[in-house]
Amino acid sequence: MRGLFVTGTDTGIGKTTICTGLIHILRSKKIDVGVMKPFASSDRIFSNRFRSEDSYRLAMAAGSGICDKRINPFFYTVPTSPFIASRIKHQKLPSLKQAITIVLEESRRHQYMIIEGMGGVMVPITREYTIATFAKQLGMPVVVVASAKLGTLNHILLTLEVCSNYNLDVAAVIINMMPREPEKPQRLLVSSVRMLTGIKSIFAIPESNSPPDPKSIGVMLNNRWQKLKSFRT
Ligand SMILES: Nc1ncnc2c1ncn2[C@@H]1O[C@H](COP(=O)(O)OP(=O)(O)O)[C@@H](O)[C@H]1O
Ligand SMILES: [Mg+2]
Repeated sequence: MRGLFVTGTDTGIGKTTICTGLIHILRSKKIDVGVMKPFASSDRIFSNRFRSEDSYRLAMAAGSGICDKRINPFFYTVPTSPFIASRIKHQKLPSLKQAITIVLEESRRHQYMIIEGMGGVMVPITREYTIATFAKQLGMPVVVVASAKLGTLNHILLTLEVCSNYNLDVAAVIINMMPREPEKPQRLLVSSVRMLTGIKSIFAIPESNSPPDPKSIGVMLNNRWQKLKSFRT
């Protein structure tokens, strides 16, 4: 399966936003891109057609008439990890095998997949597996989205440590929402992560004044991204 699994250091860090930019780049190359957010949770239903906002945003970026349940097969009605949500609401959780089978089925319909994780790598889906286990089973390279906020270096290094423990192939680390006028430590963030981890493909995406649309994120990602082997389509 060709594609990328987009995870992050936290929730609200820009995973969906980065996914929409990647989808935009792929579509502009006429690549048939499939999108998934296998696990989502919220205490409110977003719309008649889409239970989660992420599902809606991914569907809009992909421009397909694909239904919510194909994008997001597992939805939980408490805004938390599936593991905790199921403890509260007694909702059924898929086995790792079931979840992987569904994602692989969807992947076979497309040339390339952009799959958004949920929260960060150690989010528990069930007692037995986490987002990191899931990404490993899928066998896709991962993109780690992070912020430029104070404390981010710790979160990035923790996330990369887990990726390394799970033998995940880290395609890129994206420092999202970099202020237009960064403080000195922020200016040293990209090079510091590079020096500390040896990962080469690390880059920053600036903070926009308003929520960035797929095209503007796509344009910002494009130049930097073309250099990456895993995204040569
Ligand atoms: N580069 C950016 N500049 C400005 N706002 C951003 C940027 N990236 C993301 N956002 C905003 O941050 C919020 C969280 O982003 P989102 O992609 O939903 O995060 P996640 O999927 O990790 O939860 C959204 O309101 C989004 O519009
Ligand atoms: Mg999201």
